[in-house]
Amino acid sequence: MALVNEHFLKLQSNYLFADIAKKVNAFRVTHPKEKIIRLGIGDVTQPLPEAVRKAMHEAVDELGSVESFRGYAPDQGYPFLIDAIIKHDYASRGVSIEPSEVFVSDGAKCDTGNIGDILRRDNTIGVTDPVYPVYIDTNVMAGRAGTFVDGKWSDVVYIPCTAENNFIPTLPDRHVDVLYLCYPNNPTGTTLTKDELRKWVDYALRNDVLIMYDAAYEAYIQDPDIPHSIYEIKGAKKVAIEFRSFSKTAGFTGVRCAYTVVPKELNGLSKDGPTVSLNSLWSRRTATKFNGTSYITQRAAEAVYSPEGKAQVKAMIDYYMTNARIMREALVGLGLQTYGGENAPYIWIKTPGGLSSWKFFDKLLYELKIVGTPGVGFGPSGEGYLRLTAFGDRDDTIEATRRLAAWL
Ligand code: MLT
Repeated sequence: MALVNEHFLKLQSNYLFADIAKKVNAFRVTHPKEKIIRLGIGDVTQPLPEAVRKAMHEAVDELGSVESFRGYAPDQGYPFLIDAIIKHDYASRGVSIEPSEVFVSDGAKCDTGNIGDILRRDNTIGVTDPVYPVYIDTNVMAGRAGTFVDGKWSDVVYIPCTAENNFIPTLPDRHVDVLYLCYPNNPTGTTLTKDELRKWVDYALRNDVLIMYDAAYEAYIQDPDIPHSIYEIKGAKKVAIEFRSFSKTAGFTGVRCAYTVVPKELNGLSKDGPTVSLNSLWSRRTATKFNGTSYITQRAAEAVYSPEGKAQVKAMIDYYMTNARIMREALVGLGLQTYGGENAPYIWIKTPGGLSSWKFFDKLLYELKIVGTPGVGFGPSGEGYLRLTAFGDRDDTIEATRRLAAWL
């Protein structure tokens, strides 16, 4: 019989959002008539922008004739999309990226999870806490996390981000080899200024740390002083891999398209001493394990950068950020300690009356029929908090604030 990867056996039985979906389904079975408002998983609700749909239709038609048919896509992505990414996401911010540094994929969740393939098992991992569970779970699977004791993985360095430190992480007191940063932050919805991010880049340069920078929510930044890319900080190309996604930017959670930037200047160490290009390792891994994002999807993503696409995407982001404002103002008005929601589509709430995260989650579900995400599901420093998303429908968002007001 085949032996299994023992590290999988250390994982909690369900992925956080699968666990929540199970609880919500159980509630639905016993309360079939109740109208549930889902503000739990960060899944978009608004239709794809027209420019995107048009590009997809045209791409489908192209595939319908022998002359313009296309089979396998290039492993790293079509040049038309890579060029658009470089021009609109980086050159426009004064950042120079080469086409061979961009890897188009089917999602930032997959990329942040798979990137560990190119790293040795015995790297020490650091995470800000609370944290997007994919970073932790995939390192558990790879055997890098140690054992789970009192809500923490023994080999992971947790960097707490709570109301007490204004959600600004402080440099770890123990060496880490790999550090995950996600800004705007999922789950707290908070951000780092350029100076704060520079502190991390300088730390990584001084200590040979590899930063995994997840910028999946950068399109939600409203404040012009907040960096959209870690490469806006000098020296970052020597220490950071950046992950971007069209999921939350342009409503692609179901379409699936993202990209990862692995700069050529970025090196790792091999056991025997010489440095190795992480770009070449990721390229090799991609060519072996991935056959490219579909042509239709890449044309759809390209359309996000057209003048019409940009205007339609902006309107969509404004819609979600208006939801965020409505929720934030209502929650603050109700006297709840509320964070995020100004440059990110997530609202992070301190639970009232010292309730635990799961107790508050249950109360919201059973008494108000609102689904949130318990903060502790994102890590020990999330205990006593709950996350709501701004990705809901407007009427649902307003109705949720009404239910909360009546309840509180
Ligand atoms: C979330 O709710 O945190 C996100 O939807 C998760 C994801 O993007 O995979």
